[in-house]
Amino acid sequence: MNRTTNNIRQDFLNFFKDKKHIIVPSSSLVPYNDSSLLFTNAGMNQFKEIFLNEKKINYSRVATVQRCLRTGGKHNDLENVGYTSRHHTFFEMLGNFSFNDYFKKEAIEYAWELLTSKKWFNIPVHKLWVSVYQEDDETYKIWKNIIKIPIKQIIKIGDKNNVQYNSDNFWQMGDSGPCGPCTEIFYDYEDNLKPNPEDFLNNKNNRFIEIWNIVFIEFNRISRNNIISLKNKSIDTGMGLERIASILQNVFSNYHIDIFQKLKEHISQLSQVHDLNHISLQVISDHIRSCAYIIADDITPSNEHRGYVLKRIIRRALRHCHKIGMKKNCFHQLVATVIKVMGDSGVILKQKQKKIEDILRSEEKQFSYTLEKGLKILNSEIKKTNNNILSGKTAFYLYDTFGFPIDLTADVCREKNIQIDYNAYKLQQYKQKTQSNINKKFYKNYNNIIVNATCHFEGYKKNKTKSLVKQIVINHKSVSKANKNEYSIIFLNKTPFYPESGGQIGDTGELYNKTCYFVVENTKKYGDSIGHIGKLISGTLETNTHINTQIHQLNRTAIQLNHSATHLLHSALRNIFGQYVCQKGSLVTHTHLRFDFSYQNPIEIFQIQQIEHMINKYIRQNVLITTQMLSLEEAKKKQAIALFENQYSSIVRAVIMKDISIELCSGTHAKRTGDIGIFKIISYSSIASGIKRIEAVTGHEAINYLHKKDNYITDLSLTLHCNQSDIKDKIENLQNKIKYIENKITKLQKRENQNYITQLLKNSYDLKGIKLIIHIFHKYEHKLLRIITDELKQKSKQTITILINVKNNRFTIVIGVTKNLFNYITAIKIMKMISERTHAKGGGKKEIAEGGGIYTEKLSIILKNMPLWLDQQLYQT
Ligand code: SER
Repeated sequence: MNRTTNNIRQDFLNFFKDKKHIIVPSSSLVPYNDSSLLFTNAGMNQFKEIFLNEKKINYSRVATVQRCLRTGGKHNDLENVGYTSRHHTFFEMLGNFSFNDYFKKEAIEYAWELLTSKKWFNIPVHKLWVSVYQEDDETYKIWKNIIKIPIKQIIKIGDKNNVQYNSDNFWQMGDSGPCGPCTEIFYDYEDNLKPNPEDFLNNKNNRFIEIWNIVFIEFNRISRNNIISLKNKSIDTGMGLERIASILQNVFSNYHIDIFQKLKEHISQLSQVHDLNHISLQVISDHIRSCAYIIADDITPSNEHRGYVLKRIIRRALRHCHKIGMKKNCFHQLVATVIKVMGDSGVILKQKQKKIEDILRSEEKQFSYTLEKGLKILNSEIKKTNNNILSGKTAFYLYDTFGFPIDLTADVCREKNIQIDYNAYKLQQYKQKTQSNINKKFYKNYNNIIVNATCHFEGYKKNKTKSLVKQIVINHKSVSKANKNEYSIIFLNKTPFYPESGGQIGDTGELYNKTCYFVVENTKKYGDSIGHIGKLISGTLETNTHINTQIHQLNRTAIQLNHSATHLLHSALRNIFGQYVCQKGSLVTHTHLRFDFSYQNPIEIFQIQQIEHMINKYIRQNVLITTQMLSLEEAKKKQAIALFENQYSSIVRAVIMKDISIELCSGTHAKRTGDIGIFKIISYSSIASGIKRIEAVTGHEAINYLHKKDNYITDLSLTLHCNQSDIKDKIENLQNKIKYIENKITKLQKRENQNYITQLLKNSYDLKGIKLIIHIFHKYEHKLLRIITDELKQKSKQTITILINVKNNRFTIVIGVTKNLFNYITAIKIMKMISERTHAKGGGKKEIAEGGGIYTEKLSIILKNMPLWLDQQLYQT
């Protein structure tokens, strides 16, 4: 029976466990502390600092199953995904690593044993070919003489265009970082035809598939033209799990292995396409995996950086969902299947399943409206092209107006053999960027506009309404319509959008009808009205027309949890620190809450924990959160927390959390305290005299925060090679060891100094009873010169010492003079004389002076003449 992918993953780890490798968990898709990489693209990324000898670890053999993404930078597979049998955005890489432990021979032997031995993968030897770097004779000989594979099956690969290391058999992680020559193992998919090396190089019909890359990390690429050797030689290997699974499961395409078959079956059930080989099924099954894992690693869709990569993948997938007639809002349903098929690697997804589904559901909802419209336009433009080139302007229009990432447009064009004019597209993009910077300034200073309309806020109960457009303001003026791409402020007769106030940020979302689509980027109060600030993406928007409103519900829910948690925090602070604690500022967003309050004393960690305990208890009590309109008098009687007494009208809105909290507030809140889930303080500080600040997270942000901490501790324990509970002991032991070693070094240095001192005294000049000691050290510690000077002065009462240390063409100097000679000579005077003549810098006092500069012959001459010069100073006075 064929091995499942899950079994293969486990077999790989078991094999290397047997070979004394430590199994290290996959690192996040977001590279830790490495701005040179957008996403983790290889198993070796997490070990970059170890390869470069910048980080030490206690183990030298490691194996991993690393989640990888190749959608940007040096290794970018996105545009091929779906159209080939092998490319993926997301894939798992099996890897074994040696850090200055075994090298070429063992690395090759291990790979060979796992692939060919009966006990393990049992692949016939004649099916395997290898490539080696042209210059790498050592590796060639290992394959030929030790592994003994037929010479015909070993192919040497050289540099391209005569550029050194520009070869398929020289692996580099990116434009910089660890790299080295590699040897690759290939699988021959044909059975009957006897291939020769030419067939291998031509590789018709992808007959030979690379399955394992063994990299000999010997170099560090600093820049394009600068590559340096590393002191430690290491091994980095990578075998794509999906590829080896396709071989062991006897299928030609990665998309036919068990994982993808099951995913495609589910997609097919949700759509009208039942041919499991359909390209769209492949694309969707690939993309749902990458989306799930990217979100699990805490990236959310956005318009920049990693968030935009995620958005692009989601939108590309949704276009294919649309193409195969998949039911609306179903893409997120595939997450459960991904979790199931990924076996052991699905655990991390399971923990974040709801978050992943929520984000995908919301993205699909947001995009579905513009997707259909944009596709109609794209298809009609494609029909109109006569040279098979889509204009950059159209591609940009689709991007800007309908949120079509360029690769989505390219994907549609590819199906119809149409090219895109990329240069023109980029030009449009540049133009818009400049324009949008001007537009952004527009609504920043936009507080003094005259608004006639009044607006009824319905957002306590509803997240959407059908409203009437009452007024449109552009550039401080009321206008009758807004055009596409214009920034404006829209005023409606009613709205679910909460306007920024009382610390709660304004809602975001969309306004749309059959003729237009407006994205709301912020909402603010303007007198009695509410302004929806944003940009018209398509169509025209006119006053006195009807429009649908829809807030961004995911954000709003998160804001509500944080707002309710802020009330709980206020209440807990009063219970713990006293009723006089008073709010001084508050910010409530969808990511976190910030609360400033008056309190004179320092806050201790135990008090922070006490606050967290109290608030989480309130959460578990799961009390109803209700609101009541009260007269100001009643509110006072109920001891409601009120912050700006003067500003309240006679009827006020009180937010009541049973007997835990009653606070006057116009914000939006959770239904019950239990909705908050969990409350975690992430920072506390003092921001002014007597004012403290607490920042906290709730709900899934709190879980994310705790996971990050967990990962950090796991990392620490792996680095220190101990259990988590032993980390503190381990560090204390290390500190003691360092102290012990430092003491030892000091003792040894003292002994060495004594030898020097005896020697120096012996070789001193005698200037009529005054000792003059001059000595040049090489590559010594400067601070030791100071110690020796002090000791010499103590040992001999009438002494002048001039000690010099020379290192890399530079010198440092310490000059000492005993007190009883100050009438004749001082250390600073000697320093000055040397400085003047050598351009060295220096300074000090009568008894000791220090300095340094470039070491030249001049200094030797000065030192040589020093006895004479000093003699003059001492006896001429
Ligand atoms: N870093 C190499 C690769 O990604 C081997 O792991 O192919």
